Amino acid sequence: MVSLKNYDIKDPSLASAGKQRIEWAYREMPVVKLLRERFAVEKPLKGVWVSACLHVTTETANLALTLKEGGANLVLCASNPLSTQDDVAAALVEYGIPVNAIKGEDEATYYKHINTALDNKPQLTVDDGADLVTTLHTKRRDLIGNVIGGTEETTTGVIRLRSLSNAGKLRYPLIAVNDAQTKYLFDNRYGTGQSTIDGITRATNILWAGKKVVICGYGWCGRGIALRARGLGAHVIITEVEPVRALEAVMDGNQVMALADASRVGDIFITVSGDKNVIGKAHFKLMKDGAILANSGHFNVEIDIPALESLAKSKRQIRPFVDEYTLKDGRHLYLLGEGRLINLAAAEGHPASVMDMSFANQALCLEYMVKKRGSLEPRVYPVPDEIDKQVARLKLQSMGIEIDTLTPEQRKYLTSWEEGT
Ligand SMILES: NC(=O)c1ccc[n+]([C@@H]2O[C@H](COP(=O)([O-])OP(=O)(O)OC[C@H]3O[C@@H](n4cnc5c(N)ncnc54)[C@H](O)[C@@H]3O)[C@@H](O)[C@H]2O)c1
Repeated sequence: MVSLKNYDIKDPSLASAGKQRIEWAYREMPVVKLLRERFAVEKPLKGVWVSACLHVTTETANLALTLKEGGANLVLCASNPLSTQDDVAAALVEYGIPVNAIKGEDEATYYKHINTALDNKPQLTVDDGADLVTTLHTKRRDLIGNVIGGTEETTTGVIRLRSLSNAGKLRYPLIAVNDAQTKYLFDNRYGTGQSTIDGITRATNILWAGKKVVICGYGWCGRGIALRARGLGAHVIITEVEPVRALEAVMDGNQVMALADASRVGDIFITVSGDKNVIGKAHFKLMKDGAILANSGHFNVEIDIPALESLAKSKRQIRPFVDEYTLKDGRHLYLLGEGRLINLAAAEGHPASVMDMSFANQALCLEYMVKKRGSLEPRVYPVPDEIDKQVARLKLQSMGIEIDTLTPEQRKYLTSWEEGT
């Protein structure tokens, strides 16, 4: 067994509060519950060493407990310095899962924790943003020989892994969980949509109705945020670099314009592009006094914070997760959650019901990796279609929703060319 000394958390006394919140989330995770019950009997991960780098939330805790039930020896670290729920970390340690994560940890501690997770000599890696896999491929290459495979949770992580693979440097097979339909269509859209609004509301207590909200990036996350902001009565402006997405944004009823123009009118700016320096010095210079800046993309590089610092004459924290920058010309700009993903920094991340599907994919893909041990190449694989469909079927079943099936006649018609007008 894993030595339970192998953990670093904020405060073990928070464990009972964390356990209750984990239990609450589990009520909304019926698909993961079904998998946990099966894993408890079949033990598909028996004796497998797993290092997981995920946001340490109640939903992640339920995934971790499911993998443990399946027989895995698991150690967990954070995939972002500001997303850890310290009570959840404490509860997991009590449940026998070593956690290395403290909310607000500095970058050196963040990487120390990743390295501690890797000291576990993983056979499977579970990553969200690819910091664990990147560390393994750069600083801990000696451990790669042990690894059977791994999974990646988010868009930015998948982009990094594909780049590693294209450079011919990826050393073991990985599954892009993010790209399952039962992941991005729900988690990225409805999960990020709701929880980003939740994070900004908790941090600021603003009224959304009547606000001009500028969303940079109309991908799956961006469209979810736009949908929810509109629902609250905001006037939504989208900025994009990709013409088809921009056109979709227009026809979905949003205003689309260049960020330089949007900078003059926006009350709230939300980056969710997975890109770097999307909002920079030229934009800060145009913004209205009082503009709020938040990011929900994976890394804290979407808003150019050093540029904001360079324009500022002073900075103070005015509320938790709200930094007021007073610029040299007297305007104030407000940066939320240090530019880190605001839904996890200032709120609780995605609701459990949507993480149920993302994490069912994770558990099933890890089981798949073990079954396929030795037969997969070192490249980035899609989630097998049967897993994606299974997750959708089980989720519908848990909601008590039935759908129709094709008749043999319809099945034939839909795959034939003979019948026309
Ligand atoms: N906050 C969360 O909990 C959470 C959840 C899921 C994904 N994410 C992260 O959110 C980010 C976006 O994910 P997604 O699934 O929506 O990705 P996506 O690829 O579907 O969409 C990103 C969009 O941003 C656009 N874009 C890129 N550079 C831009 C720029 N400079 N200006 C304007 N638009 C630009 C792209 O054209 C694309 O349409 C990623 O970093 C992902 O990892 C965060």
